[in-house]
Amino acid sequence: MDRVIIFDTTLRDGEQSPGISLNATEKLEIAHQLARLGVDVIEAGFPIASPGDFEAVQAIAREVHGPVIAGLARAHAADIERAAEAVRDAERPRIHTFISTSDIHIEHQLQSTREDVLGQARAAVAHAKSFVDDVEFSPMDATRADVDFTAEVVAAAIEDGATTINIPDTVGYAMPDEYAAFLKRLYDVVPELRGVVLSVHCHDDLGLAVANSFAGVQAGARQVECAINGIGERAGNASLEEFVMLLHTRADALGVSCEVQTREIARTSRLVSRLTGYPVQPNKAIVGRNAFAHESGIHQDGVLKERSTYEIMDAATVGVDDVSSIVLGKHSGRHALKSALEELGFTVDGQALNTAFKRFKEIADKKKQVTAMDLEALVTDELRTELASYTLEWFDVEASSRRPPHAVVAVRLPSGEVVQGDFTGDGPVDAIFRAINVATHREARLREFRIDAVTGGQDALGEASVVLEVAGQSAAGQGVSTDIIEAAALAYVRALANAERKVAVAAEAAESPELTPTP
Ligand code: KIV
Ligand code: ZN
Repeated sequence: MDRVIIFDTTLRDGEQSPGISLNATEKLEIAHQLARLGVDVIEAGFPIASPGDFEAVQAIAREVHGPVIAGLARAHAADIERAAEAVRDAERPRIHTFISTSDIHIEHQLQSTREDVLGQARAAVAHAKSFVDDVEFSPMDATRADVDFTAEVVAAAIEDGATTINIPDTVGYAMPDEYAAFLKRLYDVVPELRGVVLSVHCHDDLGLAVANSFAGVQAGARQVECAINGIGERAGNASLEEFVMLLHTRADALGVSCEVQTREIARTSRLVSRLTGYPVQPNKAIVGRNAFAHESGIHQDGVLKERSTYEIMDAATVGVDDVSSIVLGKHSGRHALKSALEELGFTVDGQALNTAFKRFKEIADKKKQVTAMDLEALVTDELRTELASYTLEWFDVEASSRRPPHAVVAVRLPSGEVVQGDFTGDGPVDAIFRAINVATHREARLREFRIDAVTGGQDALGEASVVLEVAGQSAAGQGVSTDIIEAAALAYVRALANAERKVAVAAEAAESPELTPTP
């Protein structure tokens, strides 16, 4: 069987989705889980974009073992040097450099010429090659570009040392047959392409990202760039779980395979959804909560008699039921918590274990059973607390159907000072959100607010997600508590901290031309 390299770009293209703002600790946690999932390459970020991006890529390069760690760079010397420095300590570092080959991009965005693009591509690959052996080159917007010009650039990139050539369908415009024909033409015009890895990178604007990636593999590509839950720029990237399960489920017909540990899929999807604040639609293939549910009587009857009547995959294969045996209660001790967390893939020791245990006890006092889902929610919530620059100290909310709701909050500022604010709002959540604005003197505008229950049952933990806009920058924050007002307030202060971080990065980028907006 031919092996397909799974290149995960959740932390780079995925992180570019509007409102997502992962801190370095959260990115590292996701990267560790991606390594457990068994992806071959982790594109950890775009190091020149901001000091925060650089630090996250560097931490992943130093601490995550197994996969190749890639850093993205435009075809500029400064980008490449920054990416090289960020991935330098990885076991297997890669620099991924790109420049557009479509005339639309060359004329309007780069305001350049084909000749100049060819020269920049050559120089970028050669420069990257002076730092690492493993160099990936992408002709951006390739599917809307002239195939013969793209072929010329690709041939030059290979000549200068590129080891992977990635053909992006940047705006999700291609159709499967067309995409496959484009790749076949590249193979015909550039025979040297057979000596390197051909890669596909498809966006989902027309809902064809996985279909196009698959057409690419059938045309000879052996690397697929994809993201967990299909997150990414605009409509997102090809969904990793869909592509991997396609290879797994139809192995008989395909003759290609990958090394992903499919049982880790559900857990990875939950972690990414929780940390990014991007929910997974209920009917999403593979990881939606209904993906293995049967509603109609005829279907239920069939599945009860024989699962294969209406199921093409076993839920266990993607790890949906892997954690259902983990249940703790208020009498469970530190040791039981530690081993349950280990089973869930979290290594928690020392002070982190003490903090997790304290929160676990608080929750166990309020809930009869603490399940794996609760523990996952709790541990990921702790990651958010670690780096938040604002912290919610306490709050009082008066809510009644006879008087307008009133909230008072105390928030600890990055300086350590604790400030208070109060507000009378339209509802208790509105009152507490605006009281936080008053306390912090921030003009934050609420863009989205959602509350989900982590599990079923009346005593379920509430998980709140907030998207705020501050000075033109939007950012998300999440919070978990048995009290939904507290979960909402926690999410709000974290979104505020994340938005402020983005405002600071944008201000720094405006002052330093070497920093750049993400591609
Ligand atoms: O969509 C795209 O073209 C990209 C490139 C940077 C590979 O994300
Ligand atoms: Zn992309």
